[in-house]
Amino acid sequence: MAVSIKAERELELMREAGKILAITHEELGKIIEPGISTWKINRVGEEIIKSYGCTPSFLNYRGYPASICISVNDEVVHGIPSKKRVLKEGDIVSLDAGVIYKGYHSDAARTHAVGEISKEARQLIDVTKQAFFEGIQYAKEGCHLHEISKAIDEYATSFGYGVVRDLVGHGIGSSLHEDPQIPNFTQRRRGPKLCAGMTLAIEPMINMGAWQVEWLNDDWTVVTRDGSLSAHYENTVLITKGEPEILSIRQTGECG
Ligand code: MF3
Ligand code: CO
Repeated sequence: MAVSIKAERELELMREAGKILAITHEELGKIIEPGISTWKINRVGEEIIKSYGCTPSFLNYRGYPASICISVNDEVVHGIPSKKRVLKEGDIVSLDAGVIYKGYHSDAARTHAVGEISKEARQLIDVTKQAFFEGIQYAKEGCHLHEISKAIDEYATSFGYGVVRDLVGHGIGSSLHEDPQIPNFTQRRRGPKLCAGMTLAIEPMINMGAWQVEWLNDDWTVVTRDGSLSAHYENTVLITKGEPEILSIRQTGECG
């Protein structure tokens, strides 16, 4: 299927969805501390999303039972919130959330430190975020999709990290997942040409150790095979003829 080009009317709705999602992440960042359960984080996130008249897009998506995916330490993505999962000093926690505003989606993820964390864990979080920004240097009309993939891969692997291969970014719009798939690792082909009006969820998932992952028996939670820490950073991005517009970061306030 072809990659859809959004009309200005649609982009206005995606900008609003992105802004509300950015605010949600900012607010959730403030409550991350030792002692909070992942269940509580999910509940607060869901309330914020609903308070803006949005729908949490992950809730009941293919049976996923919560609004925010919360993945701790060696959990890569799609961790399920639980009252029994209480964050402790030194953990890292990835929050992935999606909202629907008037039929249009935004999707974004952040990884946070819980209290004081090791230098190594801090670097993993920072490199994962920077890998996204390395990738989006190629997120503009005229570039090819897999230039983004290659830039993310080369940056992350230069630190000795493993780039997750089993999960990828994606187009986004009136559905959470649209074409194209966006791998975070180097491809043989250069991929489709990017055009203004495409909207992409670009989401490096980076392991401190090897890239291989496994699924837990809840059929959702993805963990690193070697037990190493993993971080995730994602934004919904609009391709333009010039610099990409990052829809899920507020232009003032949040530093991502
Ligand atoms: N951000 C993820 C993605 O892009 C989360 C969706 S999985 C869900 O695929 F089930 F939790 F919704
Ligand atoms: Co996504």
